[in-house]
Amino acid sequence: MKRYFRRGILSFICLLLSSSSALWGDEGRISGYFFGDYYYVLKSSDAAFEDRNGFQYRRVYFNYDKELSDAFSMRFRLEMNGQSFPTARQTSSKIVPFLKNGYLRWKQPKWRTNIYLGISSNPTWQNVEKIWGYRSVAKTVLDLHKMGNGSDFGIALQGDVDKSKKVSYHLIFANGMSTNAEIDNNKKIAFSLAAKPATGFIVEGYADLENAVDRGRWYILQGFLGYQREQFRLGVQLANQTRQKNDLNILVGSAFGAAQLIEKKMWAFARFDRLFDPNPFGKRVAYIPFDDTAAPNMILVGLDWAPIEAFHIMPNLVFVFYDEPDNGAKPDATIMPRLTAFFTF
Ligand SMILES: *[C@@H]1O[C@H](CO)[C@@H](O)[C@H](O)[C@H]1NC(C)=O
Ligand SMILES: *[C@@H]1O[C@H](CO)[C@@H](O)[C@H](O)[C@H]1NC(C)=O
Repeated sequence: MKRYFRRGILSFICLLLSSSSALWGDEGRISGYFFGDYYYVLKSSDAAFEDRNGFQYRRVYFNYDKELSDAFSMRFRLEMNGQSFPTARQTSSKIVPFLKNGYLRWKQPKWRTNIYLGISSNPTWQNVEKIWGYRSVAKTVLDLHKMGNGSDFGIALQGDVDKSKKVSYHLIFANGMSTNAEIDNNKKIAFSLAAKPATGFIVEGYADLENAVDRGRWYILQGFLGYQREQFRLGVQLANQTRQKNDLNILVGSAFGAAQLIEKKMWAFARFDRLFDPNPFGKRVAYIPFDDTAAPNMILVGLDWAPIEAFHIMPNLVFVFYDEPDNGAKPDATIMPRLTAFFTF
């Protein structure tokens, strides 16, 4: 009796397994990462932040990717961020997930193109971020200063112009509301054209434009030059955002580099960001206190130690100082050492 029972269960399980794989095909892949720090604000442009310290996850990703057929695949990505410097028990919040990427990708190998439908990544800093290589330590300059968004809801085309993949492009036509819902009838368009003229070199031109109903026409022009070898990376970028209605131009530059000290174990990195104009959103920047009345400069230096490939420990120092403002007093500098950790799964 027992034996029959066991056989019955076993064959039932086998049947379930085989039918489920027949139903769902490829099982897909789960991946993701965590990064966060222990931070200590030694000095700040906003005295209220001085001596603040704590543990925080700045970002958690949970990805599920799956091939649906030879031509189609999909991505489902949840993002979670810890709250930046809450000031009261009542307003301090949990880490809540939201949909960051959710798209169907349609591969067109004949045209060397991928078509993305849904919430996919913007081309604004994809290449810059790849060469910077330390998103876990800090957002790249346009991202940090809230001058663009990493994802958007729309249709994107991304591919190579030529067979040898020396020239590539990325075009998106989207809501312009990042992962939030659309608020008006106007769309955002963003386009990047990147060339790899020689081994390790990348040169990119980027432009975007949106005429949103509430704030008028905003556009960015950006140039980027990167160089990447096995033991080091270098990048410089210059971008100019125009906010027509406010008669505002924000010119930003960033230069960064990373070098290997011990193979597969240790790297050092450094970055210098310069805003030639004050950032009106300065006070809304997450995790680093910025002032909005004077043009900020940021120096970021650190070490990256990888005890194993999937786990990095990165002591780093954030130093923000300001140009003399047109009116009022120059804000104090911000000095914040952090011990950053990053691990992937
Ligand atoms: C980024 O998206 C948010 C909505 O999530 C929007 O309010 C903001 O204006 C966008 N930023 C830019 C630079 O378009
Ligand atoms: C930035 O863009 C504005 C508007 O197109 C232009 O007037 C200004 O000269 C640009 N700044 C630089 C440094 O190119």
